[in-house]
Amino acid sequence: MSREILRLENIEKKYSSNSEELHIIRNLNFVVEEGEFISILGRSGSGKSTLLNVIGLLDKIDSGKIFIDGKEVEALSETEKDSLKNQGIGFVFQFHYLLPEFTALENVMLPALLNNFDKKEEIERKALSLLKKVGMEERKSHKPSQLSGGEKQRVAIARALINSPKILLADEPTGNLDEETSEMIFKILKDINKNEKQTIIVVTHSKDLADISDKQVYLKKGVLVENL
Ligand SMILES: Nc1ncnc2c1ncn2[C@@H]1O[C@H](COP(=O)(O)OP(=O)(O)OP(=O)(O)O)[C@@H](O)[C@H]1O
Ligand SMILES: [Mg+2]
Repeated sequence: MSREILRLENIEKKYSSNSEELHIIRNLNFVVEEGEFISILGRSGSGKSTLLNVIGLLDKIDSGKIFIDGKEVEALSETEKDSLKNQGIGFVFQFHYLLPEFTALENVMLPALLNNFDKKEEIERKALSLLKKVGMEERKSHKPSQLSGGEKQRVAIARALINSPKILLADEPTGNLDEETSEMIFKILKDINKNEKQTIIVVTHSKDLADISDKQVYLKKGVLVENL
């Protein structure tokens, strides 16, 4: 039986700039079950990144409620919220944001090491197994500048998974990659979703890539719709 991992209730998000108010998300309701692989499509400027940032607790909402794994985010203490943000959610962006002075392996280990310096060996084992899952174990000692775009993004995916997040969020993870490499990245996401039952929400402009996911939703006029 599946259970709810994410619930968005009546989410509203506005930006105001120069006396103009942009109402980006309007009374949005959405539920994601554990293990689902969802892709979000929608035209440029429709608010996809805003929505992903809201789910990833990187941006605040104006009203509504977000439940992650049954817990209402606003009801958590600041410490609990921070730990949910840092460990409960994995984020992959269009740009990889790997740290240039560290190797692939070190980059993957870092988010886990920050909380547990004493568990270095365990974290290294896990990082290696994640690098293997994304087909990058042979490049573990390479620095980001010695990796191709697709390889960097695969390392970024491994890094996003190091803290075993409840939800993996990816905002156009293949936006800078060619078609073939994009397909490979999506296949990796699909495998992780299937084999580890990892819940994944990905924003993409590619209908072909979205076809690999379980469910496609469109962000339109501030709400998510399943059929256009
Ligand atoms: N910090 C901000 N302040 C004001 N307006 C913003 C801010 N961030 C985003 N916006 C506006 O909100 C709207 C939605 O932006 P968002 O980045 O979520 O779109 P998107 O669907 O991800 O687009 P794309 O496909 O081009 O990445 C845009 O009109 C954008 O200009
Ligand atoms: Mg965007």
